Amino acid sequence: MVNFKKRMNRPYIILHMISSVNGKILTEPWRHTRAWENVKDTFDEMYKSFETDGWICGRVTMEKDFSDETPQLITPDFEISGDYYVGDETAKSFAVAVDPSGKLGWTKNEIDGDHIIEILSNKVSNEYLYYLQRRKISYIISGKDSVDLVSAFQRLSELFPIKSLLLQGGGYLNGSMLNLGLVDELNIVVLPITDLNEGPTSLELGNYRKLNMVNDLTLVSADAKKNGEVHLRYKTLNSKTIR
Ligand SMILES: NC(=O)c1ccc[n+]([C@@H]2O[C@H](COP(=O)([O-])OP(=O)(O)OC[C@H]3O[C@@H](n4cnc5c(N)ncnc54)[C@H](OP(=O)(O)O)[C@@H]3O)[C@@H](O)[C@H]2O)c1
Repeated sequence: MVNFKKRMNRPYIILHMISSVNGKILTEPWRHTRAWENVKDTFDEMYKSFETDGWICGRVTMEKDFSDETPQLITPDFEISGDYYVGDETAKSFAVAVDPSGKLGWTKNEIDGDHIIEILSNKVSNEYLYYLQRRKISYIISGKDSVDLVSAFQRLSELFPIKSLLLQGGGYLNGSMLNLGLVDELNIVVLPITDLNEGPTSLELGNYRKLNMVNDLTLVSADAKKNGEVHLRYKTLNSKTIR
């Protein structure tokens, strides 16, 4: 069992991405490649090996790969107050979605047993909050026009038994979290392919707040597999905890 020391006020965050040699992350164009064929059956085992308390994705990734309905918006006949809601007091593992405006729809409050927590901004409607409460999906509201990720992660630590999270994309969530000093480790699986299609890389920033545009990393390990993929593990310099 991995022993994660909890960082002051926020979970330990490990970024994990599958990447082409030139940093691209949209995997659809790779499905016909030899490299994909070699690696595709190992993903579940890879994710589980991190032994975190949950995982986190941006709205686009969640919408594409996990969200399973259009939210049913009904105006509540009571006032919805407070900046958080806990839908399952007993949950022990978590799927966290950064969804500033409240766009994602879920038929259940869990994904493969991981309880869903929505990270929202104040842009979210009462109708959407009411929808989440009817579904018993947890949420945290943090930030005015966009999500305040720093305080959202502090609230995650306070409200849920979350000491560690696997950050699983996409590029815009990864980049904006790294930029804010919220990433402790980077684990990149580089497949032996190049990809010249348009699309995000593992780390993008877009219009999110710009702070540290260049960051030194410490290499922890570089493991070349026989199929040609390379597993790279780095620590960020702001990571003060030992895994
Ligand atoms: N190769 C891999 O290992 C891997 C892993 C995961 C995903 N992917 C691929 O990556 C693609 C999606 O990546 P992406 O970079 O376009 O999208 P993304 O990071 O999944 O989601 C971006 C959205 O998340 C919300 N968001 C992200 N950062 C935020 C921040 N700092 N503050 C507030 N909201 C924030 C925003 O939602 P709103 O637009 O609603 O404001 C934003 O548009 C998918 O095609 C997926 O398949 C690949």
